[in-house]
Amino acid sequence: MKVGIVGSGFVGSSAAYAIVLRGAAAEVVLVDLNAKLARAQADEILHATPFAWPAKIGAADYPQLAGAQLVVLACGVSQNKGERRMQLLERNADIFKEVVPKVLDHAPEAVLLVVSNPVDVMTQVVTQISRLSPGRVIGSGTILDTARFRTLLGEYLGVAAQSVHAYVLGEHGDSEVLIWSSAHVGGVSLVDFAAQSKKGIEKDVKSRIDRAVRGAAHHIIEGKGATYYGIGAGVARIAKAIRGDERAVLTVSTLTPEIEGIGNVALSIPRVVGAEGVLMDLCPVLSDEEHAALHNSATILKKAAADIGY
Ligand code: LAC
Repeated sequence: MKVGIVGSGFVGSSAAYAIVLRGAAAEVVLVDLNAKLARAQADEILHATPFAWPAKIGAADYPQLAGAQLVVLACGVSQNKGERRMQLLERNADIFKEVVPKVLDHAPEAVLLVVSNPVDVMTQVVTQISRLSPGRVIGSGTILDTARFRTLLGEYLGVAAQSVHAYVLGEHGDSEVLIWSSAHVGGVSLVDFAAQSKKGIEKDVKSRIDRAVRGAAHHIIEGKGATYYGIGAGVARIAKAIRGDERAVLTVSTLTPEIEGIGNVALSIPRVVGAEGVLMDLCPVLSDEEHAALHNSATILKKAAADIGY
């Protein structure tokens, strides 16, 4: 599979690096306004390929995206310290109005993977600009938040994050919803597993983990100015699901006809991801509190998109 990545900054280059290390593509093409940066990123990642999987990686311009099955859009501006994802809205929408047509001119069959924040509204913007079917435009959404949730739960419970099945739904942002009610470890409910492992899962533990997941990006940005390794790995996971037509269930964002009574809004729920993009949406079983929180998240995203005319 050939993957194009538009934007060779921290996120785009981390995604390229993770894709190469994971063997999620046979070829990666980096595109950036700063051609020198794209070339340097490609040259360096190329030197990692002997330690990973055979892959071609280079820097080029839009015409060289031809034949790409997946194009990652990581060309937006990122948050500054103390900035909320939603504050990037206008700037990134303008960038995407220019980039998306150029990508589709050369890679009309590609699945588009939106990473730039606020990723859910950007996913709606790209879907409407591209006029592609919603399943062909995926936002990374809460794939990273779900990973953070599983990591922190796994650390607390003393089990591998991969064995913790717990999802974060809704906005990739302040209104995201951690789904505790259906969380389980190897088929054992969280409550039963906590009892069996003598680890209480009381309200204070849930609040601590909730705060840590919700505030992870802000905490990291305070320390190092940006986040990129986590989202880069999340992009590689989505690329692997597309390359292998895995039909993997991932919490990603697409423009959704209706969720919690809100029509035409992009947010994350568990979805089946394969070669053609999103193949199926799952309707998660939620508690009343979780339904209300997801409705709130959808309402916030719907308003944010409407505020910029989408
Ligand atoms: C984060 C960025 C990708 O949550 O929004 O790290």
